[in-house]
Amino acid sequence: MKSIKKIEEDIYYLGGADRRIQLFENVYPVPEGVTYNSYLVKDDKTALLDTVDCAIADEFFENLAAALEGKPLDYVIVNHMEPDHAATLGRLLAAYPQAVLVTTQKALVIVEEFFGAISNQVMLVKEGDRLSLGKRTFRFILAPMVHWPEVMMTYEEYGQILFSADAFGSFGASDACLFAKDEDFSEYRRYYCNIVGKYGAPVSSVLKKASALPIAMLCPLHGKIWKGNFDKLLEKYVAWSSYAPEDKGVLIVYASVYGHTKCAAELLASLLAERGVTVRIYDVSKTHPSYLIAEAFRFSHIVCASITYNAGIFVNMEHFLSDLKAHGLKNRTCAVIENGGWAPASGKLMQELLSSVGTVLPQTVTLRGALKESAPVEALAEAIAETV
Ligand code: FEO
Repeated sequence: MKSIKKIEEDIYYLGGADRRIQLFENVYPVPEGVTYNSYLVKDDKTALLDTVDCAIADEFFENLAAALEGKPLDYVIVNHMEPDHAATLGRLLAAYPQAVLVTTQKALVIVEEFFGAISNQVMLVKEGDRLSLGKRTFRFILAPMVHWPEVMMTYEEYGQILFSADAFGSFGASDACLFAKDEDFSEYRRYYCNIVGKYGAPVSSVLKKASALPIAMLCPLHGKIWKGNFDKLLEKYVAWSSYAPEDKGVLIVYASVYGHTKCAAELLASLLAERGVTVRIYDVSKTHPSYLIAEAFRFSHIVCASITYNAGIFVNMEHFLSDLKAHGLKNRTCAVIENGGWAPASGKLMQELLSSVGTVLPQTVTLRGALKESAPVEALAEAIAETV
C-alpha cells in the first residue's frame, strides 16, 4: 500500500508515523506516537534526504520505489545519523548501489560505525558546499550538536526550503495533517528540551545562520512541515536555546509519601495563586520527568518539595533534579521545601543540585512530619511573588 504525499512540485514526503512506540529513545513517553520524516526531491537528478526508523522500513521502501517511478536514485543526503533516521540507510544503499552518499566526514565515520565500509560512491561536503539537481540546488549548513556532532541541515535555494534535521521537530503523530497550523507547542517544547535542550549554544549559532536565509518552508525530521507562519516557533527556539523562561510563573514539583509534603506544596501553590502568580504543580512520582523538564524550561521559577529518604532526597525527586542539571538549564529562581521527621536532609541536597539551575532563595521551609504552621510557607510565597 503506497502512501506518498507531494508537498511541493518535485518534492515528496516519504516519512511515516509510529503509533505503537511507547518510549522514544527508550525513555520518553510518546502517547501520540512520533513521525520519522524523509523527503524525496525529483529534478533532473533525484535526491533522498534522510531515511527512517526500522519501525516503518517496509512502507518507506515501498513508497520510495513508487515515488521514483522508475527513475534512478542519484543522491542520498544524510543530515543526521541517529538511527531513528538512519537505521534503514544500510539497506537503502544496498538496494540503490548507484546512489551517491552525500554527507560530512563526521557523519561518514558514524555511517561506518553502524554499517561497516560501504561500497556506494561518497561525496563529502562541508559548510556552504552546493549540489545542483537541475532547477533545485542544495546548500549544506553544518549544525553540530543539534543534536549529534555530525548533524547538518540542507537548504534548497530554489524553493527556499530548509531541511532542518531534528531542529523544529515535535513528538506526536495523531494529527494526520502534514502541515503545521495553530500549533500547541507543548510537544515541541518537550521534544526540544529533552532531546536537544543541553546544547543551547550550538542551537543558537545555527539559528543565527538560519536567520540569514529566506525560508519559505521548514522540513524537520519529526513532526509537521511548516509553510511560513513560523515566527512563533522561532521565538520559542530563541528562548529555549538561550535558557530564557517563556513565561513568568512557578513550577512546583513535590515528592510526598504520606501527604504532608504535598500539603505544604499545595498551600504554597494556593498562596501564590492568591497573589496572581501562575502556578503549575506536579507529583514527581506521577508525572514523567520529561514533562517536568519541559515545564522547567518554560517557567521562570522552580520550587522542589521533598521528603528525606535514605538520608537524602526522595528517589524520584533526585532523578528529576539530576536530569534537570544534566540538561544545563540556567537563569531560574528556585526554592525548596524539605521534610524529615528526625533528620531533615533533603533541603541542602536539593539546593546543591538547583544551584546550577539558578538563584536559590534562602527561605527554605523545613517540616518535621505534618505542616503545623503556615507562616514559613507564607514567607516563601511572599519571597517568590516579589521576584516573579
Ligand atoms: Fe530524531 Fe537525533 O534524532
